[in-house]
Amino acid sequence: MRLRFTKLAEYAKIAYLLAVKGEFPLTREKIDYHIRGMPLKRRYNLFLSLLGDTLNLRRPVPFPPYFQVEVTNFCNLRCPACPAAIKRYHRKPRCLKLDVFKKFIDQAGDYLVYLSMWGIGEPLMHPDFCSMVEYAHKKGVLVVTSTNGHYLTPELSERLVKSGIDTVVISVDGATQEIYEKYRVGGNLEQVKAGIRNLVAAKSRLKSKTPLVNMRFIVMSHNENQLNDIKALAADLKADVFSLRSFGPIFIDDSGIEHEFIPSEKRLRRYKYENGKRVNRRDFVCRLGWSGGFFVADSKIALCEADFMTRQALGNLELEDFKDIWFGRKADDLREKLHTDMDSIAFCKNCVFRSSQLEGYDLVNIGCEGFGLKEVC
Ligand SMILES: C[S@@+](CC[C@H](N)C(=O)[O-])C[C@H]1O[C@@H](n2cnc3c(N)ncnc32)[C@H](O)[C@@H]1O
Ligand code: SF4
Repeated sequence: MRLRFTKLAEYAKIAYLLAVKGEFPLTREKIDYHIRGMPLKRRYNLFLSLLGDTLNLRRPVPFPPYFQVEVTNFCNLRCPACPAAIKRYHRKPRCLKLDVFKKFIDQAGDYLVYLSMWGIGEPLMHPDFCSMVEYAHKKGVLVVTSTNGHYLTPELSERLVKSGIDTVVISVDGATQEIYEKYRVGGNLEQVKAGIRNLVAAKSRLKSKTPLVNMRFIVMSHNENQLNDIKALAADLKADVFSLRSFGPIFIDDSGIEHEFIPSEKRLRRYKYENGKRVNRRDFVCRLGWSGGFFVADSKIALCEADFMTRQALGNLELEDFKDIWFGRKADDLREKLHTDMDSIAFCKNCVFRSSQLEGYDLVNIGCEGFGLKEVC
């Protein structure tokens, strides 16, 4: 009851800001994005979406304000707990087609607030990545990506800055090559460090406030003792933000791979485990399907990243229009199941949000010395 009241009060505050000032204080991965000057259409849709999320409503179904786009489904590295490197999750390598991406932005962009441009693969391997960002940015959508940092040449860094991208996360899971390559198999730490320097330099050369350069460290059993070294490295490389992410693959299986990497220090773990299995949260409510979805590199639209194998895809954007997919029968049936019987959806078994997260260490941003958390306008 109290929680509901707190949620309603929070909603009322945001609704006021949205309606009266056209502002939206969005926090994603602990970074505050203060969005201003939002057009009426987007504002109204967001208003409906937030109301539905607050009250867990089945209807109305708004357009999604958030979406994740899988730009490529292949990678230059072979991180052992990433589906891109695991044989049984192999998919035909694909780059999302630029014209299908543009169709998505043309048809859903008026309502979109925030796009995460990565999936199971390395986004910067897409030759049209910057053109995609530019297209979404021109529509007023906030765009964020995550990269393993191997393709951040001076040229690409400059194009990225010019594209208007808001945040670039660079995954660096070790302060020495030996530790780094235990998870980032096939990676070269010096190349990644040079990439971060290139991006920081391009930003400064072009006198641009964006992107926010977020150096990310996934804390695991083999690198947990390098926390201080990696923070110092982030400061040395002049990243704007250093973020710590707890380890948690987006699949659950009995291969034992998850247990190989769980940090020994309990406070650094993402999940609670009992008898070797993640413990699920009882109070979990999923609002994906109303507020966002996953645009897969093969042009299909899925409800969630956990359905990256597209076994329950809602439709194919190359063949259909977005509104027919999003408001269509398949999407509606899946939402109904999500609302009433989540266990009947196969991919929800893989859900990272459903498992109990340990307080505080799901994702923590620690400002580097001299580089606190920043508000991006
Ligand atoms: C699948 S990766 C794709 C983007 C890019 N290739 C990269 O590594 O940053 C998406 C995000 O998941 C993170 N990630 C990879 N393996 C992870 C794991 N086992 N647990 C938590 N996050 C993970 C990456 O660091 C990245 O921020
Ligand atoms: S770099 Fe990213 S996409 Fe590539 S294998 Fe590692 S986590 Fe997966």
